[in-house]
Amino acid sequence: MTDRILIAPSILSADFTRLAEAVELIETGGADLVHVDVMDGHFVPNLTIGPPVVAALKKVATKPLDVHLMIDNVDSTVQWYLDAGADYVTVHVEASPHLHRTLSVVRAAGARAGVSINPGTPVDTLIEVLPMLDMVLIMSVNPGFGGQSFIDRSVDKVNEIAWMCEQLGCSPLIQVDGGINPETAARVAAAGANCLVAGNAVFGAPDPKAAIAEIRAAAEAARG
Ligand code: DX5
Ligand code: ZN
Repeated sequence: MTDRILIAPSILSADFTRLAEAVELIETGGADLVHVDVMDGHFVPNLTIGPPVVAALKKVATKPLDVHLMIDNVDSTVQWYLDAGADYVTVHVEASPHLHRTLSVVRAAGARAGVSINPGTPVDTLIEVLPMLDMVLIMSVNPGFGGQSFIDRSVDKVNEIAWMCEQLGCSPLIQVDGGINPETAARVAAAGANCLVAGNAVFGAPDPKAAIAEIRAAAEAARG
């Protein structure tokens, strides 16, 4: 749980030839987490970065690395990301046949454990693992690419997950990822989200630091 809205800019939208500068830019701009999108070309139709780049980012980042694994066969590779220095490891329920075991491996390594659901996946698939989570990630676009449009139904899913957490007496971070800008940030924060990923709205902005501040301000104003 957190009193303030956490902002996790996604470096997927940064210039990959200048990742260290991108990390420094967002950290000095007030980012709370560095969101790292790992895609395998199987679970999602895009291929991005893997453990060596996560390890390189770990050398320059001062904020926690929030590693979002959009990959199949997660049980055979999750240790690579833990060894690379991931602080948060988020796996997809749709790609994790042994979800409880996977989360146990992440926790045993001392990292924080997150689970994500795609737009087509109902929130009640999380009920068995919710109490052991540090973070739950509601995808508000179909994962694979930055710069997509926010799916409106995601706001209801945030409401539902916040209610489930209340009923179960647990308080993981409630993160939303995809199409986040000041307007959508306000809507999901009002519904109970407290950790927002933003790629295009940060790195596509003329002033990424100002964009981080605007997203946070809109979200904090909306939740009152
Ligand atoms: C989508 C990724 C997101 C993405 C967000 O598959 O998980 O983290 O980079 O990018 P924007 O904010 O541009 O939708
Ligand atoms: Zn992501």
